[in-house]
Amino acid sequence: MSSPQAEVPDGPHVPVLLTEVLDALGPLSGARIVDGTFGAGGYSRALLLAGASVIGIDRDPRVQPHAERLAAEFPDRFRFVPGTFSALDTLADGPVDGVALDIGVSSMQLDEPERGFSFMREGPLDMRMAAEGETAADLVNTLDETDLANLLYAYGEERKSRRIAHHIALARAERPISTTTELARLIEKAIGRKPGDAHPATRSFQALRIAVNGELDQLVDGLAAAERLLGEGGRLAVVSFHSLEDRIVKRFFEPERAEPVQSRHLPMRVAETPRWSRVTKAIRAGGAEVAANPRSRSATLRAALRTSAAARPLDPEMLGLPRVGGRR
Ligand SMILES: C[S@@+](CC[C@H](N)C(=O)[O-])C[C@H]1O[C@@H](n2cnc3c(N)ncnc32)[C@H](O)[C@@H]1O
Repeated sequence: MSSPQAEVPDGPHVPVLLTEVLDALGPLSGARIVDGTFGAGGYSRALLLAGASVIGIDRDPRVQPHAERLAAEFPDRFRFVPGTFSALDTLADGPVDGVALDIGVSSMQLDEPERGFSFMREGPLDMRMAAEGETAADLVNTLDETDLANLLYAYGEERKSRRIAHHIALARAERPISTTTELARLIEKAIGRKPGDAHPATRSFQALRIAVNGELDQLVDGLAAAERLLGEGGRLAVVSFHSLEDRIVKRFFEPERAEPVQSRHLPMRVAETPRWSRVTKAIRAGGAEVAANPRSRSATLRAALRTSAAARPLDPEMLGLPRVGGRR
């Protein structure tokens, strides 16, 4: 049975597939849920309103005011823990009934020019969700041309990656590339722009953001952590925003295949008991949601129920993680 249409807050970030995520995590009254991507707290608030207790996690220190507001409203049932969801099993203490992950950037991150996520807004080429580590400018100005091309291809699925990397190498030999719009213009000059198509910098910006924040590693480690944390019957709901992420989530939920027996002298390898049951198909936003919130157009939700089988170590390559130089 579907839960009633969840209340969508007027916050700075409109939560995507909210009703569907609540359905996937229910029943919610009295449940303990980890919201591993707190953001502006849209999911957390709806979960709290449905009667759950929530532990919110986010790596971006700027979500703090949203967390404080919810903590004041629900002092007994909400707690915020700063950190990455790759460690969600250690950040959440005690048993948990469900985990929600809504991966990617928030509207706040995209909309603040000084964060450097958007090629539409002039800002420093930063793109870090947490204020630590290498920036996008560091990558663009220091990576070897071939490594840069490989990165744009692997994380952005950018087919013109070599041409873009070459133009970047020529430009940075004159002076470092330091702003979002400077890079966007350079990419447009390198590969041109067709009317009606997405901005030519879209894929390259996605690739740089993924690399800067180690997003695919975070996803694999977060899925593994949720598998360790959730006991039998526990629920996991993951919303992703591009095909690289969705492929990882899809493969993660698939039961492992039995390996072919290499030798008659070796014991037969049998397929392991599945860790996940009732795996949903890809759930996409309906026409009304897409019309109201265009960001939801590329969102895919997959959800499943934890079985009693022991958690396994995950093989990032089996899950489809591209390898780029030393990075994943
Ligand atoms: C799409 S937004 C989530 C929005 C949220 N569901 C809401 O309704 O407001 C993603 C959030 O996850 C955070 N995030 C992304 N990767 C993370 C990670 N590996 N660990 C913790 N937080 C992460 C981002 O900082 C951002 O605030």
